[in-house]
Amino acid sequence: MDRIRINGGKELHGTIPISGAKNAALPLMTASLLTDETLILDNVPRLADVAQLQRILGNHGVDIMAAGKRAGDSEYQGQTLHISAKNIIDTTAPYELVSKMRASFWVIAPLIARMGEAKVSLPGGCAIGTRPVDLLIMALEKLGAAIAIDGGYVLARAPQGLRGAAIAFPKVTVSGTHVALMAATLARGTTVIDNAAREPEIVDVADCLNKMGAHIAGAGTSRIVVEGVARLGGARHTVLPDRIETGTYAMAVAMTGGDVMLAGARPELLQAALDVLVEAGATVTPTNEGIRIARNGSGIAPVEVTTAPFPGFPTDLQAQLMALMTRARGTSHITETIFENRFMHVQELARFGARIQLDGETATIQGVEALRGAPVMATDLRASVSLVIAGLAAEGETMVNRIYHLDRGFERLEEKLSGCGAVIERITG
Ligand code: UD1
Repeated sequence: MDRIRINGGKELHGTIPISGAKNAALPLMTASLLTDETLILDNVPRLADVAQLQRILGNHGVDIMAAGKRAGDSEYQGQTLHISAKNIIDTTAPYELVSKMRASFWVIAPLIARMGEAKVSLPGGCAIGTRPVDLLIMALEKLGAAIAIDGGYVLARAPQGLRGAAIAFPKVTVSGTHVALMAATLARGTTVIDNAAREPEIVDVADCLNKMGAHIAGAGTSRIVVEGVARLGGARHTVLPDRIETGTYAMAVAMTGGDVMLAGARPELLQAALDVLVEAGATVTPTNEGIRIARNGSGIAPVEVTTAPFPGFPTDLQAQLMALMTRARGTSHITETIFENRFMHVQELARFGARIQLDGETATIQGVEALRGAPVMATDLRASVSLVIAGLAAEGETMVNRIYHLDRGFERLEEKLSGCGAVIERITG
């Protein structure tokens, strides 16, 4: 199993190219199931989760061709995928495939909308209630699907097709909004989605669906209106830059000190996180090329942060911010409101000498003078990268084990960081 070894204490200087957003690429690829024409996606990141979704789509009969590099393409250029769901040969998404990645459950929406039926394993072997999909099911039922749950599978049927409906989410859900949006594009009549998620990835998917012939208005606000159409066609779309990768490297630079250009990053995608970084003492400068982030000399100031749906501070940057705050001059508080138990990194950060206390959904972080390198274990995607950030600033050697979580969401992490002077390497096997 691969590991990452870091010798901490080096400042970061240089340029880090930002990849396409995983959380947009996955629903965009899923949307290809809505049409029998080819969807071309540019700037798709090379990630384990993308490869996994390719396998899942392949199981439904989707052809995917990854175009080779063109002259002038940079080494970091995302891949171009030509995705054709001309013939859907199977409307079942089996447990073996869906259990590896929660977002693969979302195929249920285009399958029911286009084929009138779908049988999709509940994600990750979890029952509704613990890691719920209840709101996704509620949305599909509102659109007229008959839903049954049997043997760990969700069976959805709408032989006469879906029909437009009013869907009001009791809480903001990204997955629920994606599913409602995709399904509503092919429903008869008008769908109004209230309390919709406003994440930039929702807007990116809506833009692509509109290019495919959908009639969606209001994406990016909490009310989305969809006029259903009889069919969708092919389109070409470029995946937007990854705001979580951007924020992660910004936190890494704030942690180590230095001066880095995050090339291709867009500040409006993560303003709340950039504001927190400025409060913590970093200098953030938006330029034509991307976002320049620097911290010179000054220490790290403590902050008070609560995660919230977009445009609030993203839960996917909570662990990284906590790593940064372990070295602040003073005490910080971070409150997690989106996911329960999303504090698995706390125990591992303690191995570096961090002082963190948990009380319900709030972590109190007392900054320490220095961290010391340690062997640590990656637990989930965002938690793992917080350990890398801590390792970059810690004295001595850090070994991050079980890094397959990192490969799910961060493209060429060690290359991007070593290109800026970090001493970091992957040890294979
Ligand atoms: C997406 C992102 C993930 C991010 C999260 C919140 C992708 C692939 N993943 O996850 O990186 O951390 O948004 O920004 O885009 N919930 C229910 N019932 C449901 C669905 C969700 O109660 O049917 C709850 C969840 O348990 C959670 C909250 O709603 O507490 C938000 O979940 P949601 O926004 O749906 O997250 P994901 O789309 O799974």
